[in-house]
Amino acid sequence: MIEMRNLTKRYFTGTPNEITVLGGIDLSIKAGEFVAIVGQSGSGKSTLMNIIGALDQPSGGEYELDGTPIQHLNRSQLASVRNHKIGFIFQSFNLIPRSSALKNVELPMVYAGIKKSPRSLRAKKLLDMMDMGERMNHYPNELSGGQKQRVAIARALANDPDILLADEPTGALDSKTGHRVMDIFLRIHREEKKTIVFITHSAELAELCPRVITIKDGRIVSDEAGSRAGGSADG
Ligand SMILES: Nc1ncnc2c1ncn2[C@@H]1O[C@H](COP(=O)(O)OP(=O)(O)O)[C@@H](O)[C@H]1O
Ligand SMILES: [Mg+2]
Repeated sequence: MIEMRNLTKRYFTGTPNEITVLGGIDLSIKAGEFVAIVGQSGSGKSTLMNIIGALDQPSGGEYELDGTPIQHLNRSQLASVRNHKIGFIFQSFNLIPRSSALKNVELPMVYAGIKKSPRSLRAKKLLDMMDMGERMNHYPNELSGGQKQRVAIARALANDPDILLADEPTGALDSKTGHRVMDIFLRIHREEKKTIVFITHSAELAELCPRVITIKDGRIVSDEAGSRAGGSADG
């Protein structure tokens, strides 16, 4: 599903300053895998995720997403890949404040051209799945952090993407709420067979994932099975 060879990302902050953020990533993630990416702040996790999600282009190397070489796509093709193949979840939820939970979940389907009635039906179903059905008419500022993240997960699932990319989705949540959100990801992986890339600061949550990749200074320094994979985050 995700194939990277010698992938690099550099930023030019004015000559002669060039910083290498990703220094040659070789990574292969198969359909249906659940992979945690851990590493210190500044190690390049978000940069890598943005490239995986076709939000950003690498400086060098090769990247194929589901067999498509990403570096040859134009902007609108990239947008289409993002819209149909990938669901994003962020630490800061990124919900639209002036839209209800329901409208937030509908939005990616609006962009995908889904008509009002099937769109609203699917959004309700997804919010029910996240135990948010009763709060679907609430606005983001009327929801707790955990509830906002459940709305964001429902939104990420709206167009039935193959891949979920989550960048520190529990980073703004207390530990107990974070564990609940982690359990939702484990359930989605089990029941919906999604490929999941889960960036986290929490070693404890990462160890619940079948595969844990550690990044340091823009390089992969370990790639192994999570020691508590198969368990639940909630106890
Ligand atoms: N647009 C940019 N220009 C220059 N440096 C950047 C830019 N984006 C990120 N960086 C640098 O790249 C490094 C990795 O950042 P990031 O991928 O956000 O790390 P992480 O998500 O692991 O905390 C950091 O040193 C950061 O300062
Ligand atoms: Mg980051």
